[in-house]
Amino acid sequence: MSDTVTVRVPAKVNVQLAVGAARPDGFHDLANVFLAVSLYDEVTATPADELTVTCAGPDAGKVPLDRTNLAARAAEILAERAGLAPAVHLHIEKRIPVAGGMAGGSADGAAALLACDALWGLKTPAEELLAICAELGSDVPFSLVGGAALGTGRGEILTPVPAGTFHWVFAVADGGLSTPAVFREFDRLTAGTEVPVPQASPALLAALASGDPDALAATLANGLQPAALSLRPSLADTLAAGTEAGALAALVSGSGPTTAFLVRDAESATKVAAALNASGTCRSTHTATSPAPGATLL
Ligand code: C5P
Repeated sequence: MSDTVTVRVPAKVNVQLAVGAARPDGFHDLANVFLAVSLYDEVTATPADELTVTCAGPDAGKVPLDRTNLAARAAEILAERAGLAPAVHLHIEKRIPVAGGMAGGSADGAAALLACDALWGLKTPAEELLAICAELGSDVPFSLVGGAALGTGRGEILTPVPAGTFHWVFAVADGGLSTPAVFREFDRLTAGTEVPVPQASPALLAALASGDPDALAATLANGLQPAALSLRPSLADTLAAGTEAGALAALVSGSGPTTAFLVRDAESATKVAAALNASGTCRSTHTATSPAPGATLL
């Protein structure tokens, strides 16, 4: 047991997001290649009389502080399993874009779970932590493990995959997009068509393992991109601005509206980020590298 525990947790980008037809439970089967990137939130857990959540950072005002926050849900589920009261204060240092398609909410869920496990001295086995993560949301298991992984099922069944180092720029849009709304738009756009069973691309996995940015640029694919662009047409301008500035490839991150730009090196990242900031097509930018480690006790 300790007095306070801080966990650092990465954002993610999907380098492949193949989306299948809607399942009877409303979720979509995916072949989802996750990559953790070096853009982090931090969650600090401190003993308290009752469960409370605070948040700091430029977008803190957009983060729910009630029990709908996945960090609070994680503490509740873990406490219930251990027969404890969730007597903890969770403070989130928020740097990952909110409702941005980079799994920021999922990241905080995974981080809070690891932080409370350490704070309460539970030593919950890894498989059990992963099962709680899957209960919290489709992207939460990946936030816990990080690195690079293929996610199947609704994204929660993970197989680690090899990945070389890549450089990225992320452009943060004004406002968020609701993930369920983007999946609904996917359903609307694909209605009446045969949606293929999602499969991981061997060419993409080989490019990822090779560390060759040109090969990865040629294979990046996000099946949710048409739906995100349909709901937010202005993202096309952001994608074009990054490509014109020298990005090797541009795509919407997950369900958006954050856009991701694969670049050759750190120097190119700085140049593309500056051009995006000057373009007036986004609110702010972050540069990052991949892969990044998953949720880590500091
Ligand atoms: O799993 P999570 O709670 O993050 O999912 C949020 C929403 O995104 C779901 O309620 C569903 O509408 C949509 N979703 C989906 N298929 C997936 C993952 C998420 O339709 N594989």
